[in-house]
Amino acid sequence: MKSAEVVNKNQDFDYEAAEGEFARDVLHGLSQTCKSLPCKYIYDDVGTELFSRIMSLPEYYPAGCEAEILETYGAVLAETIRENPVNLVELGAGDGQKTRILIGHLINSGNEFTYVPLDISGAAVRKCAKNLRSSFPDLRVRGMVSDYFDGLKWLASQDCGMNVALFLGSTIGNFSSRARAEFLNNLRGSLNPGDMVLVGFDLVKDAELMIRAYNDSLGVTAQFNKNILARINRELGGDFDLNAFRYFSTWDEVSGGIQSYLISKRPQKVRIEALSETFAFEPWEAIHTESSYKFSLPQIRKLAEDSGFETAGQYLDSGRYFADCLWKAV
Ligand code: AVJ
Repeated sequence: MKSAEVVNKNQDFDYEAAEGEFARDVLHGLSQTCKSLPCKYIYDDVGTELFSRIMSLPEYYPAGCEAEILETYGAVLAETIRENPVNLVELGAGDGQKTRILIGHLINSGNEFTYVPLDISGAAVRKCAKNLRSSFPDLRVRGMVSDYFDGLKWLASQDCGMNVALFLGSTIGNFSSRARAEFLNNLRGSLNPGDMVLVGFDLVKDAELMIRAYNDSLGVTAQFNKNILARINRELGGDFDLNAFRYFSTWDEVSGGIQSYLISKRPQKVRIEALSETFAFEPWEAIHTESSYKFSLPQIRKLAEDSGFETAGQYLDSGRYFADCLWKAV
């Protein structure tokens, strides 16, 4: 049996430095007047598992919408990116659930391509590569352990075909408008003209529906957000009492996003051993944990233009809740 090839472009990835970065970001975030914690730290093994559960909640519509889009337009996408050879580069090796739908269509349409899950976590890349290889035994998989932009730049310099980068699931919604612009510019800078990206955007819709998606009846999303406190307890020797915080998530018309918080239910002090620091919370003081921005189609078109892409395709689900946008680097 052929095993999935994994290229490690980060041989000297410094795990201790990464741990130090977590500590530094926590110290910075909790020292602000308006406390905040970066949402990327929710995703350790526990958080990643909780996010998988969110994806199958009835309230969390984006997952189903994007699956519908890839199912409906998979053949059209296959036609549009039919060029030999293609590297289908997935930014962030998730569980590969949605990608599976797209890959199925590409195979059925006879496209020649290599699937490249790209992530900074070697464990995530190996797991994703293994899963897809077992679903599609003949699929060429070439996992890559690297920073997104370094990985893409390396591929772009290899003369090994056209790159199509996938950034699905509205992960782009987590970035502030400034970080978003910077990300898209860096993405464009890591590609050759003619390369493409498929980006998932959750669209602005009835506030009721958006709010419900982040306030599920089973409380999985609350647990998911609280995992950042649990992780501080586990990795930095924190003594957060998870029951002393209430998850609160709401639609904010002004910023155009769902804003999520963990709110202290009472006055309390939290000790974090690794930081040699104690943080005081006023009653009802909030920690901002996540922004999930939502987009309009004109806003998406402008994002493409501003970052050096032209729109090659725009695919929506039947309810027009979500869009997967195919952009070509110009
Ligand atoms: C993975 C960033 C797209 O913001 O909708 C889901 C994460 N947070 N429920 C989102 C999330 C709470 C999700 N993204």
